[in-house]
Amino acid sequence: MTQTHPEPTPAVPAEAQQSATVRAHYDHVAAEYDALETQFERGPYSRWRRRLWSQVRGPQVLEVGVGTGKNIPYYPEASTVTAIDFSPGMLARAGRRAAALHASVELRAMDAEHLTFPDHTFDTVIATFVFGSVPDPVCALREVGRVVKPGGQVLLLEYVRPAGVLGTLVDVLNPLVFRVYGATINRHTAENVRQAGLIIDDIQPFWRGMVQMITAQSTDDRVSVANTAPVATTPNHRGGGADRA
Ligand SMILES: C[S@@+](CC[C@H](N)C(=O)[O-])C[C@H]1O[C@@H](n2cnc3c(N)ncnc32)[C@H](O)[C@@H]1O
Repeated sequence: MTQTHPEPTPAVPAEAQQSATVRAHYDHVAAEYDALETQFERGPYSRWRRRLWSQVRGPQVLEVGVGTGKNIPYYPEASTVTAIDFSPGMLARAGRRAAALHASVELRAMDAEHLTFPDHTFDTVIATFVFGSVPDPVCALREVGRVVKPGGQVLLLEYVRPAGVLGTLVDVLNPLVFRVYGATINRHTAENVRQAGLIIDDIQPFWRGMVQMITAQSTDDRVSVANTAPVATTPNHRGGGADRA
């Protein structure tokens, strides 16, 4: 009797598998993505986006995880914006939005964990609601630190795990949110930023700490600034006032 032995399936590294799953999720939801978030966009999201983008310094700006291009209306006219995402479905939507708004942006299909830009390319790297879905956030944040110029800045708006009982509630809700939005809401993103070697200048909490606006700079930047002025190495966690955006 002849026995057939199936060909061994080539092993797909776990990280590659995770990236493929997240990318496929966003391709799948791209058409409905904007509708899913309409209420939030009409409410606080647009205020937070405006506030974050008002801090952007050019001329070279990188948006990581552009999605359907919800930040495009806030792009500063005087800057050159490059925006990346690894989901072709989301990028296509961003392209349509840019065209409708006559916005100038270079959209590139790229994985945040493997940016193809040279070191020290951008004055500002910015991302909104991205590092909860990037499979390896520390790896991607290291890439961000690599491509930002010394003296440049990193601006993030992210769902994070809040402290206390609310954190436990967020942990419970997280699997459902991940299924619908493809993003986690309980990561310790500020800690990931530090682990990636970036220096946090400021954290503004919103919604009782469920969302944070994080301002950071590269380690290189600290070295260069240290030559001219004292630099605070302790992150400034603003108090509850900033919670009410
Ligand atoms: C929750 S959406 C946010 C989109 C947009 N920034 C916004 O504020 O509406 C997350 C986006 O990050 C993208 N993304 C996740 N991981 C990524 C990675 N490793 N490289 C590039 N894009 C990624 C997804 O494809 C998706 O478009």
